[in-house]
Amino acid sequence: LASTDVDLSPIEEGQRVTVTWRGKPVFIDHRTPERIEQARSVAVADLPDPQTDAERVKEGHEAWLVMIGICTHLGCVPNGQGSGEAKGEYGGWFCPCHGSHYDTSGRIRRGPAPRNLDVPPYEFLDDTTIRIG
Ligand code: FES
Repeated sequence: LASTDVDLSPIEEGQRVTVTWRGKPVFIDHRTPERIEQARSVAVADLPDPQTDAERVKEGHEAWLVMIGICTHLGCVPNGQGSGEAKGEYGGWFCPCHGSHYDTSGRIRRGPAPRNLDVPPYEFLDDTTIRIG
């Protein structure tokens, strides 16, 4: 299937769910206000791959972070999905293969990964449904 529709309504705040799109894991994080605040309070210019949190989410739907769950270093799947299971030193995800730490916006903060976790093409069909692809 070229595109995948996901019903977000069962995903509780603080919960991270993995879906599959074109054979790839896609991470969906229903971010808590704390995680959003953490993502926004970073000095963007100091980041290895400078991007604001606003560039990585959809306006009006800032609680939702949607990313391809593949480490941009050599393609492992980072840890941190599930309920309240933030991994790494920046509250986001941690790739155990070679030690890349991603923050609550999925941006690379430390380790060998060259880029932030990729955001796939997606849109909100309504407040609780997204179409990926
Ligand atoms: Fe993730 Fe190397 S594949 S750190």
